[in-house]
Amino acid sequence: MDLSGKVAIVTGSGRGLGLAYATELARSGAAVVVNDVDAAVAQAAVETITDAGGTAVAEVVPVGTAEAAQALVDRAVAEFGRLDVLVNNAGILRDTTLWKMTDEQFDAVISTHLRGTFTCTRAAAVRMREQGQGGRIICVGSPTGQVGNFGQTNYAAAKAGIVGMVRTWAMELARAEITVNAIVPVAATAMTETVPFLKPYVDALAAGEPLPPFARQQLGFGSPEDAAGLVAFLASDAAASITGQAIGIGGDRLALWSHPAEVVVEFAEGTGWPADAIAGTWPQKFAAAQQTVGQQLPEPPE
Ligand SMILES: NC(=O)c1ccc[n+]([C@@H]2O[C@H](COP(=O)([O-])OP(=O)(O)OC[C@H]3O[C@@H](n4cnc5c(N)ncnc54)[C@H](O)[C@@H]3O)[C@@H](O)[C@H]2O)c1
Repeated sequence: MDLSGKVAIVTGSGRGLGLAYATELARSGAAVVVNDVDAAVAQAAVETITDAGGTAVAEVVPVGTAEAAQALVDRAVAEFGRLDVLVNNAGILRDTTLWKMTDEQFDAVISTHLRGTFTCTRAAAVRMREQGQGGRIICVGSPTGQVGNFGQTNYAAAKAGIVGMVRTWAMELARAEITVNAIVPVAATAMTETVPFLKPYVDALAAGEPLPPFARQQLGFGSPEDAAGLVAFLASDAAASITGQAIGIGGDRLALWSHPAEVVVEFAEGTGWPADAIAGTWPQKFAAAQQTVGQQLPEPPE
């Protein structure tokens, strides 16, 4: 992908997936504003990119507020003169079951992921619309936001909300030729190292061992670098006609998620649906089509 002349912001790109995205965008020729709350990792990311011949600067600010979003867009314009690509990647976890979750835990995750994605995209959209040359917004969902996950009330709300915003923005920004997509990644990072079913594969990667096809294909689990090609593709001219999509990436797995759609529809004859009518129809028409909750993961091979 040739992204020469393009300018990108990647939030939360001091480590993990964001670092892989920023590195790949820079390797493809884009000038990158690296962002993180952690100044040391942000600076190290800039050095890694520039040492490899790329162009990057660090803007250390906690994503979430309108002020932080504006600082990022202003930095891109001040350093590189324009903005073409925004990757809304910054994120945190505050996992616990519903009955133990505090307001602070809920608000912290919503603020970083959902509000951060909203405020950064709004600031970027204003700039891209002024430029009049289109743009690329890449947001980050999660399997949790798509299907739910035990212990992740706040994160599920944020990630499902992000995909909802993506569909809305794809409509609102179409005329300005700004595409908006969600990627749904899975990769070995600080965020996944404590997930029990991934532990054997996290340990294998840490030991420098290759992952088995089961992990890379069935679980869609790999390194952050495995997810970066999708971001470079969506940022490129080759993806100009792709918008409003949720695209899974991880290991050797690339997947297009469906949007929620009705799976069973029944019609009443002018009576509407009183409760007893629903109770009578449900077992025959709807019960077999009830949806699963949580990721339905295959068993590992013996
Ligand atoms: N790792 C996975 O398998 C996976 C799966 C689904 C979704 N995701 C999503 O991918 C994104 C990146 O996750 P990761 O696994 O690389 O996590 P990570 O914890 O390795 O990296 C996240 C980075 O974001 C930074 N950050 C946190 N809050 C910030 C803020 N307010 N402003 C700026 N930077 C901030 C952190 O300092 C850190 O460097 C997140 O949105 C996450 O929800 C990851």
